[in-house]
Amino acid sequence: MIKKIVPGQLQVRLMTIDDLAAVFHLGEKLFTSDYSSSMYRTWDEYEITTLFNSDSELCIVAELDGEVVGFALGTTVEKQKSAWKYGYLVWIGVRPGLQKCGAGNKLFDEIRERMVEQGVRMVIIDTDADNEAGIGFFKKQGFDNIQKHVYMTLNLSRRRKKRKKA
Ligand SMILES: CC(C)(COP(=O)(O)OP(=O)(O)OC[C@H]1O[C@@H](n2cnc3c(N)ncnc32)[C@H](O)[C@@H]1OP(=O)(O)O)[C@@H](O)C(=O)NCCC(=O)NCCS
Repeated sequence: MIKKIVPGQLQVRLMTIDDLAAVFHLGEKLFTSDYSSSMYRTWDEYEITTLFNSDSELCIVAELDGEVVGFALGTTVEKQKSAWKYGYLVWIGVRPGLQKCGAGNKLFDEIRERMVEQGVRMVIIDTDADNEAGIGFFKKQGFDNIQKHVYMTLNLSRRRKKRKKA
């Protein structure tokens, strides 16, 4: 059954250790191979646990009626010899059926504020060029200056089979 978000019902808060499994499984629902092969391949338990270990204050969840229905996971990048600190929003997702109800906005507002508090001067994101929903959402948040990025794959198992035959 699809729940509708009543304004005020949705709580955005820091992710806790008890949320890890829910966030992981929600990501599995979102980052399917059909939706995006690169996001499907890179979404795993370590993404969440690594970011939770290194940047727990940039790991945010959205909760509705006691259930995790969205997340935003980020980190920061500092360059030597540069005054710029970058925020990297690595993953953001909202449960299918509850999208386009404002949860993504709330999650982004929270993580952006936290990045500002940490001295971030520019936020970066990356996603598939054909992720229209994601790109539409990021544009709405004010992201621009789209730069093309290429994902490539090398199938090592095919290479091993060829070697065996030779
Ligand atoms: C991207 C995503 C997190 C947005 O969350 P959401 O809860 O649907 O976003 P919101 O309802 O807060 O929408 C915020 C704004 O983004 C825009 N937006 C949201 N979805 C959109 C879509 N499919 N196409 C175009 N614009 C969209 C809306 O116009 C909205 O503007 P408004 O406030 O003026 O209405 C959600 O679509 C999602 O989980 N997508 C799958 C995962 C993904 O691709 N993540 C990004 C890469 S990690």
